[in-house]
Amino acid sequence: MRSLKEEIDRRRTFAIISHPDAGKTTLTEKLLLYGGAINLAGSVKGKATARHAVSDWMEIEKQRGISVTSSVLQFEYDGYCINILDTPGHQDFSEDTYRTLMAADSAVMVIDGGKGVEAQTRKLFKVCVMRRIPIFTFINKMDRDANDTFDLLDEIEKELGIATCPMNWPIGSGKSFKGVYDRQKRCVITYSDTEKGTREGEAQEIPLSELDRLTGFVGEDLREKLIGEIELLDGASAEFDLDKVRRGVLTPVFFGSALTNFGVEDFLQQFLRMTTAPLPRKSDAGTVDPVEQPFSAFVFKIQANMNRAHRDRVAFMRICSGRFDADMEVRHVQGNRVMRLSQPQQLMANDRKILSEAYAGDIIGVFDPGVFSIGDTLCMPKESFAYEGIPTFAPEHFARVRQMDTMKRKQFVKGITQIAQEGAIQIFQEFNTGMEEIIVGVVGVLQFDVLKFRLENEYNVDIRLEPLPYEHIRWIENQDEVDLTRLVGTSDMKKVRDLKGSPLLLFVNPWSVGMVLERNKGLVLSEFGRN
Ligand code: G4P
Repeated sequence: MRSLKEEIDRRRTFAIISHPDAGKTTLTEKLLLYGGAINLAGSVKGKATARHAVSDWMEIEKQRGISVTSSVLQFEYDGYCINILDTPGHQDFSEDTYRTLMAADSAVMVIDGGKGVEAQTRKLFKVCVMRRIPIFTFINKMDRDANDTFDLLDEIEKELGIATCPMNWPIGSGKSFKGVYDRQKRCVITYSDTEKGTREGEAQEIPLSELDRLTGFVGEDLREKLIGEIELLDGASAEFDLDKVRRGVLTPVFFGSALTNFGVEDFLQQFLRMTTAPLPRKSDAGTVDPVEQPFSAFVFKIQANMNRAHRDRVAFMRICSGRFDADMEVRHVQGNRVMRLSQPQQLMANDRKILSEAYAGDIIGVFDPGVFSIGDTLCMPKESFAYEGIPTFAPEHFARVRQMDTMKRKQFVKGITQIAQEGAIQIFQEFNTGMEEIIVGVVGVLQFDVLKFRLENEYNVDIRLEPLPYEHIRWIENQDEVDLTRLVGTSDMKKVRDLKGSPLLLFVNPWSVGMVLERNKGLVLSEFGRN
């Protein structure tokens, strides 16, 4: 039997972020493989079936007009209990993708070595930085031609503004990929093709001092290049500093190839040692310790209509402290009532299993009778504190919503407001006319279809969406200090209000943001809103 502290200390909860196709799914599968959740030979076959199942699930979800599940995978490795939060990518990218990062303690950033930093990584990275969570970089696909290693690191530093510390160093790439040099062990770990990971690799470790053996393996040219690069690296790169890693200002970088299983287990082992167990979190009553406070959690995602027959909603919560027991009573702080959480479940891809207990660091989904909102806190009945709200993320697509049947005004406003409260979309009003005209903003365009579908099916309201050209939104941080009627704008700027009446600015061009700041001294704009 483990103590509460031991259970929490062995938990590692992280999200994997990447641009589509960089290899997030492949890396996740390989991590599961080491956890024994799937076996080696079955992985490729299993992958195809799993993919199939997942995409079918997504298709069904799309037809039903609900947002796409981001799943949580839990597995054991070397005494650790690991929770991987999947961040949906591709066209189903939505606010949920961002919110998932609120529930993670660290992030693994997968980058395609042949492509470098890409758009979606950049967006997700910003959220990690805002939360100052540790970021670990896995540069993938080294078995294919990759960009120059120094250039890749440079790009991460410049584009993302985080210092890098390479933990290993690739020797060649693509056809000439020979393996990596492990900077800590000071030896070369050789690469062997594992036929897309279906076979165990036979990696050898060759100490740098065994020059002949090394030359025999990598050839003279690559050996010389490697030795030169190591010298440069030892002299120039940031020193490894665990404290900086944990503060999110330095990212350890690993090179590997998820597909051929190269460098994955080494990455996992080092990552587990460097990342932290659940840490104390801030609440309005001070910092909450994960072990001392018997139970607390916050809702980071609500999924409606997972089962259409029952019109059910599932609230996903991240446990922040203590232990959750299926029978226990908890306080829903924002609803100001004590309740039992019904049908607690853990989601494994598209499989759900009912669970009886869970610990800080774990994610559970519970049946939501329509009482929870994103950001809500749950705690012990005798307590009452609230975790910091989840920020509202900047939508990038906007449309004006026109209702086809004006007689159904009430249903329309009710429907669209409820959907906005679930957090799938954000709605804005014209600055002066209020709810007469509604503008909807989304992070991923799929959410427009979801909105239309759900209004038709759940509220019996037909709408038409007219796309608007805005792509950049800014909340006004110091609205009390600014006279909005006197704001000097640009021709492409639009003033709107959110549901709570707070003013916001929409822009077509990114440079207009800077122009407005320049024209209105003292104005403070932010890319994130607060719930
Ligand atoms: P994602 O979840 O980030 O979108 O990426 P995913 O893992 O699905 O990988 C995208 C493609 O890249 C897949 O190929 C995958 O096999 C390939 N891939 C992932 N890691 C590596 C790697 O280390 N080396 C090489 N060479 N390829 C890699 P696909 O052809 O699109 O899919 P599939 O038919 O292989 O499943």
